[in-house]
Amino acid sequence: MAEVPAMPDVPAMPDVIVVGGGIIGLSAAWQIQQDGAEVVVLDPAPGTGASHAAAGMLAPIHEAYWGESHILSLNLAASQAWPAFADHLGVAAVDYRRNGMLMAAYDADDKALLDNLGDLHEQEGLPVERLRSRECRTREPLLAPGVRGGVYSPLDHQVNPRRVVAELLDRVPTIPASATEVTRNQVVTDDGRVMACQQVVVAAGAWTGRLLNLPIRPIKGQILRLSGPEGLLRLPVRGIVRGSSVYAVPRSDGEIVVGATQEEQGFDTRVTAGGVYELLRDVLALLPGLSEIDLVETWAGLRPGAPDNAPIIGTGDDDIVYATGHYRNGILTAPITAIAVAALVQGREPPVDFSPFSPNRFRASNNPKAGISDHLSGISA
Ligand code: GLY
Repeated sequence: MAEVPAMPDVPAMPDVIVVGGGIIGLSAAWQIQQDGAEVVVLDPAPGTGASHAAAGMLAPIHEAYWGESHILSLNLAASQAWPAFADHLGVAAVDYRRNGMLMAAYDADDKALLDNLGDLHEQEGLPVERLRSRECRTREPLLAPGVRGGVYSPLDHQVNPRRVVAELLDRVPTIPASATEVTRNQVVTDDGRVMACQQVVVAAGAWTGRLLNLPIRPIKGQILRLSGPEGLLRLPVRGIVRGSSVYAVPRSDGEIVVGATQEEQGFDTRVTAGGVYELLRDVLALLPGLSEIDLVETWAGLRPGAPDNAPIIGTGDDDIVYATGHYRNGILTAPITAIAVAALVQGREPPVDFSPFSPNRFRASNNPKAGISDHLSGISA
């Protein structure tokens, strides 16, 4: 019989309480442990939120958008933090793969959109290869013959987020409860406990805005899991298909994750016929060979989004440490967020300048965009 790993011991008097057991909270807790501090994570169901839905694209370049240079800089730095993090957890255990990513345009209008992104890549000096239709199909033979062109990015990688969470849960103690009130050094839970510590970290994802005064909203993503022969799809592919975005991320065991919708309708995690239809319509237009393999799961998660699409990482004016609002890049930015949180908890300087991501940018005035101009100085990748 396979050996069941022992659950990590819950400390009686933790130094640090992390509220939220998604990949951000668990990574932060693990990194805090590396400094020798006693930590516990509070979450009624750790790892079952956005981290469970996520495809695991570690894609600073294919997630780059005009006007978001500061997020791009963070995401590039985040990408560099992944190899060491994956080494600690086990590269094979978390299926961390550095085989690049292909973005493909389905029709002429989609090609125009892709060319526009190509201009952004060029302006930012990002290492990408612009590909003609035939070159796209040489890299990924499963692509439809009509694909108009693409962009290959060797710096975009992938990981299996569910496996990352499982590895972290083997290392970090958790308590199955929700926080109802938090201060810098105290948490009240929904089962009536009052827990004291030296530092509270809030990593509550889409639920942050319900706990504290921050403008975080849930952005629903529906996702599908297909299963086919190993190696059927060689590369993660992000497509623009008749103006819509779709992606397919292959795992080494033959699973292919297809995502994701972007829906702003509150705390709704229903999987809908329309959502599944749109994902299948677009992915099969781009990769018709996937129509023969099994559809094994449909799912929906809630990304936490701030008004400026940037994460919230830093110490608030309430002295709580925040790590939330990671929107489309929570898996990519988990290790660098964890390093920053551990530094803040210990009073060290974080390794890069996180000031553009401070929670106080939403508290300095009633203007939800207050402080954003500061970020354009950027952080170094
Ligand atoms: N990072 C992909 C997504 O949020 O759908």
